[in-house]
Amino acid sequence: MSIRRLPSELVNRIAAGEVVERPASALKELIENSLDAGAGTVAIRLSAGGLDLIEVTDDGCGMSPDDMPLALERHATSKLPDDRIEAVSSFGFRGEALPSIASVARLTLESRVPNADGWRLTVDHGEPAGEGPASLPPGTRVRVEGLFDKVPARRKFLRSPRAEYAASLDAVRRLAMARSDVAFSLEHDGRKVLNVQPSDTPTRVAALLDRELERHGLGIDCVRDGLTLAGVVSLPTFNRGMADHQYLFVNKRPVKDRLLVGALRAAYRDLLARDRHPVAALFVEVPADELDINVHPAKTEVRFRDPAAVRGLIVGGLRAALDEAGHRSAAREQFAAAVNWQAEPVVPEAAALSSFFDPQSPAPAAVMDRPATYAAPMGRAEQAQPVPDQAPRYPLGVARGQVAATYIVAEAEDGLVIVDQHAAHERLVLERMRRANAGGPVARQALLMPEVVELDEPDCDRLEAAAGELAELGLEMERFGPSAMLVRATPAPLGKTDSRALLADLAAELAELGTALALRDRLDHVAATIACHGSVRAGRVLSVAEMNALLREMEVTPHSGQCNHGRPIWVNHDHADIEKLFGRR
Ligand SMILES: Nc1ncnc2c1ncn2[C@@H]1O[C@H](COP(=O)(O)OP(=O)(O)OP(=O)(O)O)[C@@H](O)[C@H]1O
Ligand SMILES: [Mg+2]
Repeated sequence: MSIRRLPSELVNRIAAGEVVERPASALKELIENSLDAGAGTVAIRLSAGGLDLIEVTDDGCGMSPDDMPLALERHATSKLPDDRIEAVSSFGFRGEALPSIASVARLTLESRVPNADGWRLTVDHGEPAGEGPASLPPGTRVRVEGLFDKVPARRKFLRSPRAEYAASLDAVRRLAMARSDVAFSLEHDGRKVLNVQPSDTPTRVAALLDRELERHGLGIDCVRDGLTLAGVVSLPTFNRGMADHQYLFVNKRPVKDRLLVGALRAAYRDLLARDRHPVAALFVEVPADELDINVHPAKTEVRFRDPAAVRGLIVGGLRAALDEAGHRSAAREQFAAAVNWQAEPVVPEAAALSSFFDPQSPAPAAVMDRPATYAAPMGRAEQAQPVPDQAPRYPLGVARGQVAATYIVAEAEDGLVIVDQHAAHERLVLERMRRANAGGPVARQALLMPEVVELDEPDCDRLEAAAGELAELGLEMERFGPSAMLVRATPAPLGKTDSRALLADLAAELAELGTALALRDRLDHVAATIACHGSVRAGRVLSVAEMNALLREMEVTPHSGQCNHGRPIWVNHDHADIEKLFGRR
């Protein structure tokens, strides 16, 4: 077999295999070119998810008719004036995208530089297919038709137009987030689906992902060891069932990076349940020499010289912001749900609640009319007292009663606060353990009689291996035969606890965490599991004094807005909300 040089047509097609995987990747390349050309407006049109047509029009610098054939030639670029790839700040630098796309589709390039006439050039699967004058405003329009039509091997791997459209939309979003100073519009099958004007980054991110993010998002801005982190993340209570709304940008380049996923997870660790995910758009800036951008054919991955520093920046920066915001809760949504009560017949919860507004006065007519089949309200209130003078000073108000032995109802200056007592207590215990842990080992409470807890052997192995860590958290135990542990002391912040249940849960937790996590991370997870055990369970009747003590402690505790699983711990309905509830507004 003799070795031969491949014809350039074939070389381009091979390159296309890497650069252009699907319509979304071609679209990404075209938008990047528009941004590199200094566009202030990028207009995108797609048909059938980009399978039939991808068209990108910009008002950038344009190309002269002489430059246009060069743009379609491999390894021809205007973006590397000297040979330093590290110093490149444009998206492109390889001179590969257009020739690659043109080798697997019909590509028409129309362009015009200011004060000159426009020109058009068409290439069909790598072959010249005509050129001539074109009329268009200064800028460039690229049209890609029938992508992979003549490349059956590729076509086979494409998904439905819907799926390809979703991927294209994601590509548009990423670049529109990266450049909030540029206007973007997107039309799919003749329907306008996106239109954003230049704005600041948080506004752009909210416009692209979820308007609610403007209220339930946290701005991030921090610098550490010469690295900066900026962007927006959601409050823990504003979470999603999929990790699909997480975007990372490195030196303004959208990248897909496992590092981000892991770092986000770590930052929200004990604030979200395992199957819930935050929304995030994070912008990392690192010095150019800390980064290799030339490691992936589509440039969607980068390599950091010091990944641990970047991870530390993200986890540390987010954690600090979340700690600061810890007292906020996404209470508004709960209110929105509550307002629906109006539209339906009065439900028992509403009846029970309304008896709390003023247990002394007759209940509202609607409540009195309720059918006899309704369960008796489970509410309980002590003799109503005038609200003490100091009430306005307490953000969470003064306890007025308990509902269903589960919720504390408090009166605050500006309205009504309802607290989930179990979630609240769990959070308090966790934060107490954390505080204690930060200053050395957590205090332990020795058991009068050591307790034998029987578990299966692998669970005992796990607990035994983690005994040192657990001792830090105030849990002292040792192996007691092949399938039992002997518990000598439990964490003091927990109070009296069921050792068996605690050990079983910890063993399960350790099995899931494996040995992959750093010690500190593990301790925090385990502390959360322990905290859950020490909590005032729903269903326990509390005295007004106990309720007030809980409220006061919450006010000074970080993250008291949401429980370890990301649900709100308390909701606040201000007077205006309550008036709305009763149709007075
Ligand atoms: N929308 C546009 N406006 C102005 N010039 C453009 C536009 N699109 C492409 N060009 C020119 O065509 C050249 C080739 O584009 P192409 O995308 O193939 O390569 P690149 O952007 O330089 O590098 P990469 O392959 O990394 O994207 C660019 O360097 C640029 O000079
Ligand atoms: Mg390019």
